[in-house]
Amino acid sequence: MEPTTLILFGATGDLAKRKIYPALYNLFADQKLPPSFSLIGLGRREHSDASFQAHVEQSLRQFSRREIRDSASLQSFLTMFRYCILDAGRKEDYAKLLQMVEEREQALRIQPNRLFYLSVGPEFFEKIAAHIQESGLGSANGWKRLVIEKPFGHDLQTARDLNRKLSQAFTEREIFRIDHYLGKPIVQKLEELHQTDPLLRELWSSRRVANVQITASETVGVEERAGYYDQAGAIRDMFQNHMLQLLMMVASHFPADLPRGDGRSKKRSVMEALRPLVKQNTGAAVIRGQYQAGEIQNTPVIGYTAEPGIDSASRNDTFVAAKLLIDDDYWRDVPFYIRTGKRMREKSTRIVVEFKDAKTKSGSRAPNLLVFEIGPDEAITLQFQSKDSSQLEAFDPIRIDAPVSPGNVPEAYENLIDDALHGDPTFFAHWDEVELSWKWVQPVLEAFEENLVPLHLYAAGTYGPAESDRLLAEDGFHWWFDI
Ligand code: BG6
Repeated sequence: MEPTTLILFGATGDLAKRKIYPALYNLFADQKLPPSFSLIGLGRREHSDASFQAHVEQSLRQFSRREIRDSASLQSFLTMFRYCILDAGRKEDYAKLLQMVEEREQALRIQPNRLFYLSVGPEFFEKIAAHIQESGLGSANGWKRLVIEKPFGHDLQTARDLNRKLSQAFTEREIFRIDHYLGKPIVQKLEELHQTDPLLRELWSSRRVANVQITASETVGVEERAGYYDQAGAIRDMFQNHMLQLLMMVASHFPADLPRGDGRSKKRSVMEALRPLVKQNTGAAVIRGQYQAGEIQNTPVIGYTAEPGIDSASRNDTFVAAKLLIDDDYWRDVPFYIRTGKRMREKSTRIVVEFKDAKTKSGSRAPNLLVFEIGPDEAITLQFQSKDSSQLEAFDPIRIDAPVSPGNVPEAYENLIDDALHGDPTFFAHWDEVELSWKWVQPVLEAFEENLVPLHLYAAGTYGPAESDRLLAEDGFHWWFDI
């Protein structure tokens, strides 16, 4: 791997502390960092290099999946870290940064390969990209890459505007849009399985599949992000990005000989075939919910509108469920049901593929299921229905469980940072995917805004509003819960 300088905006922020430093440390421990690596942390707070390194160390002690045993190797990790105070809007600060970056590159005798990581609020994205361009930071003699976190725009138009601005400083190949769900091991496995497993490929179409259910339920509420979340809602926070990415990953047909990185064109085809919604009819396919007070694992919790920082009259969505149809030759007439919500009964991200039914004599349904447990547990389970010989009509499920890499698996951020360091875009969201996702979501945003879709209240600790069952019941299906 080529020598790299990682220039981290938002170095004293929460994401850096919880995810980025632990990921870098674990890559270091696995000897996956480039041989010459240096990180320059940027923030508004005062820090010396030493106090910044102490901050990084503290984050590792709190959040690293690996225990820190060996202080010598910890020290050699921390010595790669430098700090520079920077006001993202001040042109002069970028000149100072350029000087510091060049000094580091000269001291380490490395080429100017620069990875700019924007772990900051979206209001800074355009400004920072423009300053990188103007200051000359991005025009050195090596490569440059931009890693950017969500949210990528607030709707279709703002996403397009942002992309146009970023494109003035970085090409599409240089932009790595993080969707951390694409870093999750089981999600990555979907592409691999599809490419390598002939059985799975055989099963993957409307000939065999009755419906697909994608769930991301959370027990947490709005946490300390009231300002952001009350503007975003579940539709922007989870649905437009993570949930549609899961849909693309599960519905794409990745050919066995697919060159690395080309899977993104398959994902785009799925999005292009997604049947669009009409704003006025959104209510038929989309359920909107908001949590009320309730109990989660025997602990009482308050309702959304009572949360600190949330307007007591807020009609923001903390739950969204939808039925989507993909009008292509593989998936015509197979419903894909998606739901995501906060303050639900359990933390669970999973995809359930329900196969067309094996009918019993009495006509009752006994479908086979393939379940991808994405988090917090990771497993792939195939559930067959077999006849119980003692009872003619009863079926006993047989399960084949494959816990995936049990134990200490790399976290999403490790996989993604590793890929960004290698310049591998496979598991980053391409602009086409982002734009097509916003395009599908746009009528839903407008329908919510104009109150064309009812807001159903649900008690915290449940599976969301009962109305979301209707989406499936109309087609003769139901959500699979405890499988
Ligand atoms: C983030 C959302 O992108 O994903 C959060 O902003 C959400 O609201 C989180 O809690 C869920 O991620 P995970 O990995 O815990 O499923």
